[in-house]
Amino acid sequence: MMLDLQTGYARQPLAFHDLSPDQGDFRQALIDGLSGRHKAIPCRFLYDARGSALFEKICRLPEYYPTRTELGILRAIAPEVAERLGPGVQMIELGGVSSLKARILLDALEEPSAYIPVDISRDHLRASAEALHAEKPGLSVLAVCADYTQPFELPSAPGGGPRMGFFPGSTIGNLRPDEAIAFLASWAERLGPGSAMIVGVDLRKDPAILEPAYDDAQGVTAAFTKNLLVRANRELGADFDVDAFAHRARYDVPAGRIEIHLESLADQTVRIGKAAFRFAKGERVHIEDSCKYSIDGFKALARAAGFRPTAHWTDPAQLFSVHYLETAAG
Ligand code: AVI
Repeated sequence: MMLDLQTGYARQPLAFHDLSPDQGDFRQALIDGLSGRHKAIPCRFLYDARGSALFEKICRLPEYYPTRTELGILRAIAPEVAERLGPGVQMIELGGVSSLKARILLDALEEPSAYIPVDISRDHLRASAEALHAEKPGLSVLAVCADYTQPFELPSAPGGGPRMGFFPGSTIGNLRPDEAIAFLASWAERLGPGSAMIVGVDLRKDPAILEPAYDDAQGVTAAFTKNLLVRANRELGADFDVDAFAHRARYDVPAGRIEIHLESLADQTVRIGKAAFRFAKGERVHIEDSCKYSIDGFKALARAAGFRPTAHWTDPAQLFSVHYLETAAG
């Protein structure tokens, strides 16, 4: 057994399981998405290196309340969550590259047996797993480079222990409700009986708060959306005039959904290799939806996925929620 000289704890393993996830073919997705009657570009292509850096900037914007609000809720509830979970938990974070939120829970948990971050972004995942392991050498860190929306085998933690899935950030909102049910159902099955899942969920609210959160005064969110065009020009040799498109974010109140589009500001033709695409002035390209839920609405969705919602917490202004879901007892 290796002892860490600073802490005196047994040094636990750091492992990197690269399942070589399919990153998707941007060219094909772009051509397919711009060929239909309603143009669209899948939002998963927003997150290249520049897009990920812009998203981190979004998380620090004054208008973008979800990140700081969720952090505040997690800090407040960490002791209660630790109490519910008990000792020796294996924590599986879906999208574990920023790990700040995970740290809040890991610091409160009683001797967690492993931290298993799962992310498609190889370099970010490796760097954050190494940093966390350096900070907590007594914790097994088993990073998995995989697409967490697709089936894959979870590594087995050396110490075993009950499993807790952690899906913060309201990333669940970027799935349609039917997709969110299928996604949660797949995780209920993968986590197995006697497991828990903690999910961060943005709440429905006044459009006067929601729309600026997705269309900030500094234009960072606009740059994030338009980065898709910058990326297409750089990677695929497309000839988008980035300034001839505008970022639009609108909250559809009945649907409870922010809808993000790029709007063509002129009649124009864009080429991607040999393919040419006509855009009429005012025509919109759908980029991303961000679904918002009521507390009861999300609980109903979790039940439809086979989970038992057993607790939830919000901030005093009721902007954001964190849900504690359980699978059936083992
Ligand atoms: C990643 N996801 C939860 C963000 C959201 O709030 O839906 C993505 C985002 N798009 C624009 N701003 C933030």
